[in-house]
Amino acid sequence: MPVRTAVITAAGVGTRFLPISKSVPKEMLPLVDRPVLQYAVEQAAEAGIERVVLVTSRGKTAMEDYFDVAPELERTLRERGNAKLEPVEQAGRMTRIIAVRQPEPLGLGHAVLMAKEAVGNEPFIIYLPDEILLGEPSVTRQMLDAYERRGNAIGVVEVPWDDVSRYGVVEGEPLSDRETRLTRSVEKPPRDEAPSNLAIVGPYVFSPAIFGCLEEITTGAIGELQLTDAIALLAQREPVHAYRFEGERFDAGTPLGLMQTAVEIALRRPDYADEMRAWIKELAARL
Ligand code: G1P
Repeated sequence: MPVRTAVITAAGVGTRFLPISKSVPKEMLPLVDRPVLQYAVEQAAEAGIERVVLVTSRGKTAMEDYFDVAPELERTLRERGNAKLEPVEQAGRMTRIIAVRQPEPLGLGHAVLMAKEAVGNEPFIIYLPDEILLGEPSVTRQMLDAYERRGNAIGVVEVPWDDVSRYGVVEGEPLSDRETRLTRSVEKPPRDEAPSNLAIVGPYVFSPAIFGCLEEITTGAIGELQLTDAIALLAQREPVHAYRFEGERFDAGTPLGLMQTAVEIALRRPDYADEMRAWIKELAARL
């Protein structure tokens, strides 16, 4: 069965971005002139995903507005022959957004469970919107192919051992250079208890069996319902594999990471690259 639904979890309070996240959803912070959230939505749409279930929470409707058509703005831009018409039209027509709410911040696992009804009984892909993953073919394409080959697939990257306690980490047997058959996954293990330095960053592609697992798990690391614990349970019922995708990974989930990611993206944008590179050189000379 083809994967036609994406779930994007964007319900978090954004504590690391306070105070701006008091009134601006952290997923709407800019990477150049696009919100962080657009990178996942665009990749899903390009890979043929038909609809995006956005898990949101109170005060975050700016995300839905962004992906909606804006007829008056488009009319004004068209009348003025403004070049921004194209990206504005594109954002409003990228995909169909179905917003569901997570009423309380009970964890990533709980957030995904909020999408159960909207997804229905079919496979789907989950994105963590802070994770900006750039690849050719796209990381989404690589993960969908990985799912077709071997079933449930989760995107992982190698991280320095000192960082493992910030992530969900996988344990398993290597199937190939990039694939690991998962036997266990553990959320935020202390460094000396981590089974590997393969950190889960998504995207995740799951059969709907993950929902049953999410309903069974109990509170895990940091007092939250953890998706990583549901994956460990799923691995006892169906094959799950971790896939070390090809590409670059940027973490836009902290203020410093967001700034670094913005610079990296500007350097890849033809309309900004030259000026950005010249400025960075000039800046480096001043430091
Ligand atoms: C979440 C997940 C974790 C994953 C991480 C990647 O943690 O729970 O498994 O490795 O995202 O960014 P958070 O960053 O929300 O603490």
